Amino acid sequence: MKQPFIIGNWKSHKTPNEVAEWFAQISPSVRSLEATVILCPPFPLLPQCKELIKKQQLPWKLGAQDVSQYPVGKHTGEVSATLLKEFVEYVLIGHSERRHMGETDAILFEKVKRVQEVGITPIFFVQGKDVAIPQRIPVVAYEPLFAIGTGKADTPEDAEKIAHFFKTEKQVPTVLYGGSVDDKNVSVFMSCSSIDGIVPGTASLDPVVFSHILQYA
Ligand code: PGA
Repeated sequence: MKQPFIIGNWKSHKTPNEVAEWFAQISPSVRSLEATVILCPPFPLLPQCKELIKKQQLPWKLGAQDVSQYPVGKHTGEVSATLLKEFVEYVLIGHSERRHMGETDAILFEKVKRVQEVGITPIFFVQGKDVAIPQRIPVVAYEPLFAIGTGKADTPEDAEKIAHFFKTEKQVPTVLYGGSVDDKNVSVFMSCSSIDGIVPGTASLDPVVFSHILQYA
């Protein structure tokens, strides 16, 4: 049995009160599961999530949803990889929602460099086979545009084909699938031989559904 990677991408959701409620409703049984669970809240919620993960003895890690392309310095509003290192082990880079905001391959590759310099693992998002990826990237998440937040996941056959391509042609060790993953389809994607894990967005916002996803992965 493979140990699944499960990335909860909260995007721009939740307030401190909602975070407290969310953690209170996470099933205690998920504590003993053999999985790499990486929760990705918005930046200001990282310290609170770190505290609650510790308090509830969850064997989970934290990830950030973005990082500055610049090092520490005079960059108003930016969050450096050096600061993030205090809170997270992973950073999401290249999500299609950020590409739509104008992030180019050059910017994304700089971000990968910044996080690798400080020892954070980048999770690099691709929307298809033809997307450029940095050399020696450890984790790629395939998320087709039509499947994000639509309730219409890709077929497991197609997701498997793309995951297989990145594993064999691009030598990416870990490949994930994201796009309308929920507690009903998670086991289908996890049974694909080239898919090592999943990235639930909408479904990670509900603690009961997220607990089910962890149990069924
Ligand atoms: P979704 O989002 O699960 O709501 O489709 C996934 C993502 O965009 O990472």
